[in-house]
Amino acid sequence: REIVHFLSIGSTNDKAKELANNGCREGLIVVAEEQTGGRGRLGRQWVSPQYRGIWMSVVLRPDIQPMEAQKLTLLSALAVSNAIEECTGLKVDIKWPNDLVVSGKKICGILTEMSAEVDKVNHVVIGIGINANMSAEDIPDELKDKATSLAIELGYNVDRKNLFRYISRNIDELYTCFINANQWHDLMVEYREKCINVGRRAVISKGDVSWEGMVTDIDDDGALIVLDGHGEKKRIISGDVSI
Ligand code: BTN
Repeated sequence: REIVHFLSIGSTNDKAKELANNGCREGLIVVAEEQTGGRGRLGRQWVSPQYRGIWMSVVLRPDIQPMEAQKLTLLSALAVSNAIEECTGLKVDIKWPNDLVVSGKKICGILTEMSAEVDKVNHVVIGIGINANMSAEDIPDELKDKATSLAIELGYNVDRKNLFRYISRNIDELYTCFINANQWHDLMVEYREKCINVGRRAVISKGDVSWEGMVTDIDDDGALIVLDGHGEKKRIISGDVSI
C-alpha cells in the first residue's frame, strides 16, 4: 500500500483530497507528524501537535451511492476503535457517529469528506485524528473535561507506528467486508454494541436548533433513531449529538 508521510502539513485531509483529485489509487494514506491547520467536524479546528498523535487520511473509491457514504464513517469508527483496543487493551466506546471515547472522554475524531456526482462517488477521504501521546498540557483548557489521550489514560506512551499499522489493517479488513461480501449487517451489529448512545437521552443540535430525546436504535443505514418529547420517532442522519 502507498503511504505518503510528512513531518508537517496543513491538513492530511486536504493533501489526500488533492491526491485523490489527481487520480491516486484507492487505499493511499497520507500521514503527518504534525498538522498546522488540522480540521475537525462542523468547521472546528483540530489540535495536532508534532509527534503526539496519529494524524492520517485514507483515500477510498467505493462503488456506492453518495447516500451510503455515512456507512464508511461508521465503518471507520468501528475499525479504529477495534485497533486501539487490540493495541492498548483500553475499552474504547463509540459516540455516534464517529467519536471514539475512553472513560467518557474523546480520544479520536474522524472527518469524512466526499467528492460525488448525483449518483456516483468519486472518492471519500477518511481523516482520523488520535490523541495518542498528548500530555495534559497539550490539551487546550476548554477541552480538558471533554478530551483525553491514550497516554493519559494508560500512564505511558504508545508505539504510534504499531498503532498506525493496526488501524490500516483494520480499516482494510472492514472495508473489504463491506465492499466484497455483503457483511454490512454484521458490522452494524458490532457497531451498535460499541455505541454508547443507544438507550440514553441525547441532545440533538443542527445549526441553532437543538432538542432532547431518547435514542432507541441505530438503523442499518447508520441513522440514529430518536424519540422526541412528543413520542414521535425521528431519524437523524447528521448533526451534533451530545449526551
Ligand atoms: C472531529 O471533529 O471529531 C474530527 C476530527 C478529525 C481530525 C483528523 S486529523 C487527520 C485529518 N486531517 C484533518 O485536518 N482532520 C482529520
